[in-house]
Formats: sequence, C-alpha cells, structure tokens
Amino acid sequence: METNRTLGSSGIDVSALGFGCWAIGGEWSSPDGQPLGWGKVDDEESVRAIHRALDLGVTFFDTADTYGTGHSERVLGRALGKRRADVVVATKWGNVFDERTRTSLGQDDSVEHVREALTASLARLGTDHVDLYQLHLSDADPGRAAQLRDVCEELVGEGLIRAYAWSTDDPARAAVFAEGTHCAAVQHALNVFQDAPEMLALCEESDLASINRSPLAMGLLAGKRQGPLEAGDIRSTPPEWLPGFTAGTGADSDWLSRVDAIREILTSGGRTLAQGALGWIWARSPRTVPIPGFRSVAQAEQNAGALAKGPLTAAQLAEIDRVLGR
Ligand SMILES: NC(=O)c1ccc[n+]([C@@H]2O[C@H](COP(=O)([O-])OP(=O)(O)OC[C@H]3O[C@@H](n4cnc5c(N)ncnc54)[C@H](OP(=O)(O)O)[C@@H]3O)[C@@H](O)[C@H]2O)c1
Repeated sequence: METNRTLGSSGIDVSALGFGCWAIGGEWSSPDGQPLGWGKVDDEESVRAIHRALDLGVTFFDTADTYGTGHSERVLGRALGKRRADVVVATKWGNVFDERTRTSLGQDDSVEHVREALTASLARLGTDHVDLYQLHLSDADPGRAAQLRDVCEELVGEGLIRAYAWSTDDPARAAVFAEGTHCAAVQHALNVFQDAPEMLALCEESDLASINRSPLAMGLLAGKRQGPLEAGDIRSTPPEWLPGFTAGTGADSDWLSRVDAIREILTSGGRTLAQGALGWIWARSPRTVPIPGFRSVAQAEQNAGALAKGPLTAAQLAEIDRVLGR
C-alpha cells in the first residue's frame, strides 16, 4: 500500500494513518455531569505514545479545541515541540468550554467565534498555523456553514490555516464545504460496522480526503470486552449517539458476537484485531485516512504497525459482508 496520502488538492501530504487525540485530553464533562472524555490519562504516557508514533512514520494528528477542554491540544503541542514542522496538525472549532472547570458550555456557530477559537488553539498548540481546520458541529445549518467556509478561505489567505474540512456524517453538508477552493477533506465515521458509501463517493467526485473517526468503533474493534468502564469514560454512561455500550455493563454482547464472527478475517496475515479493522478501512477507498484513538505506547505501536500490513483484500471485504448478513 502507498503509505502516504495527499489531502485533496491541497498538496498537504500525510501518513495513511493519523492519530486521534480525543482520549489524551483526559476527563471533562457536560454541566450535568455526563462524562465527555475517556477517563483518566497519564500525560507523560501520552507524550511517549506520540513520540513513538512519530518514530514509526505517523505524520498526522487530529485533535479539537474541546477535547479535555484544551488539554489535548496542549499535550499534543508539547509532545511535538521542535518536530512540529514534520507533521500535519488538524484541530476543530465550534464547541465552547471552560478550561478551569473542565466543562463543556455548548456550541457557537458564529462567524466571530472562528477567529477567537483559532487564536486560542494556536496558543495551546504552540504553533503559528493549523494545517487542517475543521468545523466540529456535525449538524450545523448549511447556510451558516457556507459563511464559515468563506471565513476559512480568508484564514488560508492570511496563512493561519492551510486547508479546512467539516466533521460531519452528512454528505449534503460536506458538499457545501467542498465548494470552497481550500476544502481538502471531510471527517466522518467509518468502520467495519458503519460503512459510508455516499460519503466516499462524494470524496471521489470532489477530490476530498476521507478522514475516518471511530475506526475501531470506540474500542469494540480493538478487543474491548464486557464489564463496567471507569466512571469518567464516556462509554460508561453512553449518550444516545454512542452505539455498542450500555451503562453499567460496558460493551454490548450482540456487538461482541459480531466482532467474534469476523475476528478470523480481520486477524488474517498476522494482523491484530485493530490492525484488521484499519485494513478494512483502507480497502474501502484509497482516499481514507483512519485516525484511531490511543492512550498508551502499546496502542500507538500496534496501530502504527497496521501501515506495514496494509488493506484487506476485496474478497475479504465481501466475506465480511456475507458473515454480517449485508
Ligand atoms: N465529531 C468528531 O469530529 C469526532 C468524533 C469522534 C472521534 N473523533 C476523532 O476520531 C478519533 C478516534 O475515534 P474514537 O475516539 O471514536 O475511537 P476509536 O479510534 O474507534 O477507538 C479508540 C479507542 O480504542 C482503544 N484502542 C485503540 N487502539 C487500541 C489497540 N491497539 N488495542 C486495544 N485498544 C485500542 C482505546 O480505548 P481504551 O484506551 O479504552 O482501550 C482507544 O481510546 C478521536 O480520537 C478523535 O480524534 C472525532
């Protein structure tokens, strides 16, 4: 497999695997106490994991201002240090939060907020530009998004960002952003259990990279088993949009049965389960860039190791469809 990708027509080259930096933001919550992070993290381990990823050829990191209410950006910026110039950093705006109380405060889709949020992200990341700036409001009004897209074009002109994208699962919304000259990608959910053929078709037609969130189905496709999860972990009291987990019992047995049914195919060629799940994504389209989350050196090594294993075959994808009855 070609282990690099160019983000749309931006000329920005990234490794075919990125690292998702949500979990390394640590604990934060909504005002009513719903956990929004993945539980406790050890920042020093996060930094070591990022360094290991860099050594193993990973050059793309996805974060958001809101992850850990700014903490993820701070940890990523610290870990990159002098190596900032060697990597492509993607972050997001649209959510507002209180860093002091580590609480989310809602959303802001205003034109004014874009620059405020970018200024704060640049400071936390310790950089003078963001490579890929992403609208984090997946269901934002398309008319408003067109205005935000125009602001992004201005920011490109000013050298503050190099390209931009919308993080949304709706192809019609992604198409609104795609009309902008420097829109280089869409970030959307894609994994063995959640295909996105219309979005992949749009990426092809509009020359966009497909950046894939939740590539491991939030851990289910990496071997997460049944059992209660840590209280600060969003999966311990899953919001409505988070499938596969139930409060108190952890991973759902019907999801685990489906993982078991395709385990042999995913672990072919000496792959681990997580590596097979990433191989499925690469086999879906050469435009894909999965961004698995991580919070340890061991996870970083295993996920980066998927690059050498490459995509599953078309026959294996067909077999997975058959086994899952689709
Ligand atoms: N709206 C948005 O824009 C949006 C939404 C969601 C995610 N994202 C982005 O996408 C990234 C990834 O998606 P995701 O956070 O939904 O989850 P994911 O990548 O599907 O799953 C990540 C989790 O799987 C487990 N894991 C990872 N590698 C593993 C390995 N090798 N072996 C065993 N377990 C492993 C870890 O959980 P444990 O540590 O608990 O084992 C990890 O936190 C995020 O970090 C974020 O950058 C964006």
